Amino acid sequence: MPTSANTQKPSSVLVVGGGLAGLSTALRLADDGIGVTILTKKTLSEGSTRYAQGGLAAVLSEDDSFQSHIDDTHIAGGGLCQPEAVEFVVKNAPRAITWLIDRGVSFSLIDENQNSDYHLTREGGHSYRRVIHAADATGAAVEETLERIVRQHPLITLLEDHVAIDLITSKKLGLDGENRCVGVYAFDQHIKKTVTLPCQHMVLATGGASKVYLYTSNPDTSTGDGIAMAWRAGCRVANMEFVQFHPTCMYHPHAKSFLISEAVRGEGGKLVHADGTRFMLKYDKRGELAPRDVVARTIDFEMKKNGYDSVFLDISHRPAELIEKHFPTIRQKCLEFGLDITTDPIPVVPAAHYTCGGVVTNLNGQTDISNLYAVGETSYTGLHGANRLASNSLVECLVFAESAATQIAKTIKENEDISLIKLPIWDESQVTDPDEQIVVSHNWDELRRCMWDYVGIVRTDKRLMRAAHRIQLLQAEIKDFYSNFRISNDLIELRNLVQVAELTVKSAMLRKESRGLHTTRDYPELDTTNHPRETILSPEIKG
Ligand code: FAD
Ligand code: SIN
Repeated sequence: MPTSANTQKPSSVLVVGGGLAGLSTALRLADDGIGVTILTKKTLSEGSTRYAQGGLAAVLSEDDSFQSHIDDTHIAGGGLCQPEAVEFVVKNAPRAITWLIDRGVSFSLIDENQNSDYHLTREGGHSYRRVIHAADATGAAVEETLERIVRQHPLITLLEDHVAIDLITSKKLGLDGENRCVGVYAFDQHIKKTVTLPCQHMVLATGGASKVYLYTSNPDTSTGDGIAMAWRAGCRVANMEFVQFHPTCMYHPHAKSFLISEAVRGEGGKLVHADGTRFMLKYDKRGELAPRDVVARTIDFEMKKNGYDSVFLDISHRPAELIEKHFPTIRQKCLEFGLDITTDPIPVVPAAHYTCGGVVTNLNGQTDISNLYAVGETSYTGLHGANRLASNSLVECLVFAESAATQIAKTIKENEDISLIKLPIWDESQVTDPDEQIVVSHNWDELRRCMWDYVGIVRTDKRLMRAAHRIQLLQAEIKDFYSNFRISNDLIELRNLVQVAELTVKSAMLRKESRGLHTTRDYPELDTTNHPRETILSPEIKG
């Protein structure tokens, strides 16, 4: 098959994504002597990880127990968490955190002046204080530390500003044998060309898909690329109806749904209306520390019932020193918008935050395609069920990075002769430059508004039907544009977002009950007879 200068040197392992999932998988492999290439669509550190605030959940105090963390995860997950995945993550979480500490991450201490224990905060759904953190900028501390190491590692090659477009599989190439991943096409944003990247193993660590909603706490990178690519290549995708809305994102026209960490409620913050009335306890005895689905739904209900634009999160009754010590980033951000959280309540609304569903994997991160792994928010491991327990995501990235890296290393050592296939180059002969970009930007806006209005916190059959109809029209238009015009970053992402939207709506239509993050007025009750398990969608494997 023809190859060209646009085909890069083959990698043993190609990791797509530079968040916690990608960086920790790459480091584990490189420390084991394996060469890794990391591909990221923006600069290395741009992704959800660097914005994480609250921290990482793990059993780190003597009062706490694995059983309690396991129970809390299952309760938050609405009975749909897979027990093996929960036990696997909970039991490996403390060791994963030690790995981070050994790499130099400085977590907050109880008392900075002494040789003190780590400060553990509390978040919704947790029975104990078990969230280790670096003040309210945990993700930045983790990402910066790992980025520094990765950039200097002799076995790691970085390809930043490269957007993975589609996986290349043996099946797509018409080769016999089990379907395996042999490379990826990626759009190099510097030269505006598509390059072909062969590899022996690939790890998808592309994060979640919350940008499919109009309002989200996520950065622009969260466009579900890994989920859409894996689906197109023939992997199963599960539980896409379970989209987590974070209850407390700042309500301000210029704040871009800036997150106000759940740890603010963990340290005593109260949800109130403008007149100071608390409302959470009317709905759940756990009050502000009920799991996230309950709190987000209650806020949505209170806002709609009263016709309010937001509710308020008030921590001003706590000592100013405590607020300044634990929430310096949030305090500073709010000051930029004229609010002093030591004295003022913060206007907050829910926004799309986390994709509980994703590419189906086993406990080693292996997908349905041989040599293809998925780690982090892009994966569906069974840990989160119908709703993720707060701060269980970063630990999931770490624990599965370790097991995937171990499995890859074992496979490489056992089969050193895995041959690389000569890959066909990207064919641009049939496309031209687009005459106008308005189709792409209009469809981006329309899709995200449609998902917000019809596939949000509270759903109905009618709303889902409306969304399905619009998504079908958008998909046809985007497919037509993609087939006829040269690609751009926005077009690649839009194609993935519309795919994720379709999967989300399809899954939501299949679940005829209300459970966890999926609430529908047409089926308000839990149905343990017909819906006891996850929603798994299987694609037709295209030749
Ligand atoms: P990300 O960190 O999102 O990284 C994805 C990477 O993939 C990026 O480098 C991106 O550029 C790259 N990428 C994507 N598509 C492509 C493509 N096509 N080609 C090349 N590269 C691509 N969880 C917790 O457990 N605790 C918290 O306190 C917490 N706080 C949060 C606060 C905020 C504001 C947000 C948004 C999330 C928070 N979460 C938290 C969730 C958690 O941060 C994420 O689930 C986790 O960081 C995901 O890590 P990841 O490595 O899977 O993906
Ligand atoms: C937060 O700090 O509230 C986010 C925690 C999470 O998403 O797990």
